[in-house]
Amino acid sequence: MKVLVTGGAGFLGSHLCERLVGQGHEVICLDNFFTGRRENVRHLLDSSRLELLRHDVCEPPLLSVEQIYNLACPASPIHYQYDPIKTVKSNRSAAGMNRSQEHRA
Ligand SMILES: NC(=O)c1ccc[n+]([C@@H]2O[C@H](COP(=O)([O-])OP(=O)(O)OC[C@H]3O[C@@H](n4cnc5c(N)ncnc54)[C@H](O)[C@@H]3O)[C@@H](O)[C@H]2O)c1
Repeated sequence: MKVLVTGGAGFLGSHLCERLVGQGHEVICLDNFFTGRRENVRHLLDSSRLELLRHDVCEPPLLSVEQIYNLACPASPIHYQYDPIKTVKSNRSAAGMNRSQEHRA
């Protein structure tokens, strides 16, 4: 299955990417690296099953995938309170991606 993981270079997202790649899925790991790190997925970059995309979900990407996991939001208060409007926009964009995916299905 082709899967999009937003926030894929973060704490939860990177472990999820690892699990999905291990299960044989094709994974697009999307992240703007606000709190996430490339190092978190470095060990997966040699795999032909993982594609790392630097992108911000506030600009919803045009991607054709079968499943989306939205983890693109900073988890710690110091980070999500840093720019509250950006935090809301990130969550709203991610929800929008889910909806457009549902309409396509
Ligand atoms: N860590 C936990 O124990 C836990 C528990 C329950 C829920 N959650 C939720 O899961 C989500 C992820 O948590 P986490 O611990 O992995 O946080 P994290 O900060 O490690 O990961 C979030 C990732 O999203 C990326 N990101 C943030 N804004 C983005 C944007 N606009 N566009 C693209 N990428 C963006 C960050 O760079 C980072 O890689 C959060 O919504 C958090 O509230 C986490």
